[in-house]
Amino acid sequence: GDVAVLVPAAGAGLRLGPGGPKALRLLAGEPLLVHAIRRVVAAPSVRMIVVAAPAVEVGAVRDLLAPVAPVTVVAGGTERQESVSLALAAVPAEIGIVLVHDAARALTPPQLIESVAAAVRAGSPAVIPVLPVVDTIKEVGPGEIVLGTVDRGVLRSVQTPQGFRHDVLAAAHASAAGALTDDAGLVEKAGLPVTCVPGSELAMKITRPLDLVLAEALLHAT
Ligand code: CTP
Ligand code: MG
Repeated sequence: GDVAVLVPAAGAGLRLGPGGPKALRLLAGEPLLVHAIRRVVAAPSVRMIVVAAPAVEVGAVRDLLAPVAPVTVVAGGTERQESVSLALAAVPAEIGIVLVHDAARALTPPQLIESVAAAVRAGSPAVIPVLPVVDTIKEVGPGEIVLGTVDRGVLRSVQTPQGFRHDVLAAAHASAAGALTDDAGLVEKAGLPVTCVPGSELAMKITRPLDLVLAEALLHAT
């Protein structure tokens, strides 16, 4: 393998409601992070996995993942971007491709990890998995008055893993100014092309309580 996968897992999971850090919440009796890492380690390109865990859970996460895969566990930061930077610092320079993959996308299939890595290997400096947008999207102004309907055909929903040439991700994080919800946004700001590949419905992000219900159904359907 020529790929390192960074797994930001240090978030609180506030939108999921009470119950501790999201990555450690159970799905079918196992923590989301275990589901996620099992799928990451099954991708043949993966040489190294770095998990950014909640600072107080670093030891517990090491113990939890030791039987699942060889992983490096670091303490995450207060923002996702900081957690990714801290994980990136653990990756040696000789690893050429780095993927960033949210623990919250716990059911992401190994094939999606492979297809993102393959697109970077084929020459794209940055690669994101995307799905078409299904809802009609409106732009809304003051007083909740509709300003217009956005052309859905040019929109995509973005998932993880997002893949990068190691030097491109490092440069993007070194120059990171504002808070962004994804790593490719940092690369776009640097003016480099970001390539889309087809995403997967299994790579859904577990964010709200309904998503846990959907994930449990998906787990049993696949
Ligand atoms: N994350 C992280 N460090 C942070 C914040 C988020 O590593 N300081 C991770 C989360 O653990 C998650 C991924 O980034 O795997 C995507 O974030 P999100 O889905 O927003 O998770 P949370 O921030 O935990 O959830 P919420 O925003 O509802 O609190
Ligand atoms: Mg969050």
